[in-house]
Amino acid sequence: MAQNSYSAAVEELKSRCNILDVVSPVVPLKRAGSNYKGCCPFHKEKTPSFVVSESRQTFHCFGCGAHGDIVGFTMRYYNLSFPEAVEKLAEQYGVQIESDFADRGKKREPYYDANVKAARLFFKAIAKGRNEGYGYAERRGLSPETIKTFGIGYADKEWNSLTAELRKEGVSADMMVELGLASQKGDRIYDKFRSRLMFPIINTQGKIIGFGGRIIGEGEPKYLNSPESLVFLKKNNLYGLNVTRSEIQKEGFAILVEGYMDVVGLYQGGVKNVTASLGTALTEQQARLLSRYTKKVVLCYDADAAGVKAALRGIDVLRAAGMDVSVLHVDDGKDPDEYIKKHGRDDFIKLINEKALPDVDYKIKLIARKYDVRDVAQSVKFFRACVGVLKTLPPVEAEIYIKKIAAEHGISEGALRSEVTGEGGAQQERPAAESIKAAAPAAEISESDLKLEKTLIRLIMLNSSYYERSKDIQEAFVSDEAVGLKNAFESQYSEGEQFDLDRLKDALDDEELEYLASAMKQIQLAGDDEKAFEDCVYRIEEKRRKARIEEIKDILSMAFGSAGSDEINALTLELSELSQNKKR
Ligand code: UTP
Ligand code: MN
Repeated sequence: MAQNSYSAAVEELKSRCNILDVVSPVVPLKRAGSNYKGCCPFHKEKTPSFVVSESRQTFHCFGCGAHGDIVGFTMRYYNLSFPEAVEKLAEQYGVQIESDFADRGKKREPYYDANVKAARLFFKAIAKGRNEGYGYAERRGLSPETIKTFGIGYADKEWNSLTAELRKEGVSADMMVELGLASQKGDRIYDKFRSRLMFPIINTQGKIIGFGGRIIGEGEPKYLNSPESLVFLKKNNLYGLNVTRSEIQKEGFAILVEGYMDVVGLYQGGVKNVTASLGTALTEQQARLLSRYTKKVVLCYDADAAGVKAALRGIDVLRAAGMDVSVLHVDDGKDPDEYIKKHGRDDFIKLINEKALPDVDYKIKLIARKYDVRDVAQSVKFFRACVGVLKTLPPVEAEIYIKKIAAEHGISEGALRSEVTGEGGAQQERPAAESIKAAAPAAEISESDLKLEKTLIRLIMLNSSYYERSKDIQEAFVSDEAVGLKNAFESQYSEGEQFDLDRLKDALDDEELEYLASAMKQIQLAGDDEKAFEDCVYRIEEKRRKARIEEIKDILSMAFGSAGSDEINALTLELSELSQNKKR
């Protein structure tokens, strides 16, 4: 197995080179007892919590939990895959790699080569003009120059256009299937991308690692992406960066958008410092990749619920990578591509300058929109949610926002400060990993919540009537993945479609698919679906009751001035009823 030759090389590397030699050129270290200490390169911190052990040849960050050996460090720091990291170290430290292993590096060349051939064929097809692909590109307003800059092409509607040509050029069927250019049925292969506008995905070394294909006109899935392969890891790459990184450096910030069309549309419209993640939520690796070119990002996602969700996640991931983040949802047109077509470059730039909100302001604004602070119960919730956000901030920033929020929303500055800093202000500098969790308004998902949620998902997959019935216990879906799944299910349902697992899967991203697979595997129903469902309902109702009790206690403890008022009397009564219910 290849893995064995990897580990042989790693063993050799470990015996030859010291982790200090790998880490200290990029992370300044100071001796601390028998170890070495420095500021963690993987999250933002001022007080060193990154420790390197020379005797164990490992590193560990007590702030963000990053942990590993020389290879792990090299992978993370330089954003490399495992084989790439081993190759880099081997070359640097003169380790001779077994031939079988060395071949792996070279083994990637034919993959790139096949992708280049495919891209050329797609491009040739669109350049011919007067076909469906060219017509569609024209309708979407893509200029010939843009098509050329991004190497955009066209896969026609036939079943064998690409496969036949690639075969002539000596590309093996296995290679085509592995790269996701072809699908296999029995011993026949056929074109995977048909009737699509093709966006080659090119890494910053200029290698074509995969494709995104936009259906011409209507159809499902709207975008089909190459599967992961030896040369394509979605989580490690950003679309368009090969073209736009110098503009990003020049402008001093990057605009991060949702899709291929947004990148290409903005670029053509004259806003060139733009890039996009590849059909998945923004990853830590993508944030690190981008941070090589700039430390400042404007998230510019669609204004719909999915766009807001993506922005919230993006904020946390980018902040953890030490970046300065703001958010803009375009207000006219569904996405940046439409906006710039309609209003042009200058208006778009103006929009960024005037409307993009710094990440904290953005989060607070979302919270404020949710609660009506004139209502006592809701203002408590507003207060709590703000504290959750402020606690993740460095002290100076927190202080600025404490003042601002207190002034803008008429709540006590002192109360806010003492909640945020804790009594005596002891809670400075919290570790980043924790901050990320705390930043999301609904933090901390417990094992049992997760199990409940998975049980529901499982039930819904088995019998879609449970979907209707679970509408009253929506809060059972707590993880991002479960919410995504539920939404996918909902949209299929509302289109009046028969439930179809394959179609549902098309609408899911990688994380959601993985989640679905694990739910199906992990949750064993003892045969009685109905009982399992009722149990879910009961548990949610219990949770509601407990949460309401806590909420009322909260309000009562803060309501000094208004004892004896109707509202307080009503709450006291409600509290006693809820508590008795427990004893039943
Ligand atoms: P959108 O559906 O918002 O695409 O998906 P868009 O950019 O506005 O596309 P047009 O303008 O209708 O052509 C945003 C991104 O989500 C991913 C793609 O990366 C897409 O660019 N996506 C979307 C998929 O990977 N698959 C899909 O089926 C849909
Ligand atoms: Mn869009």
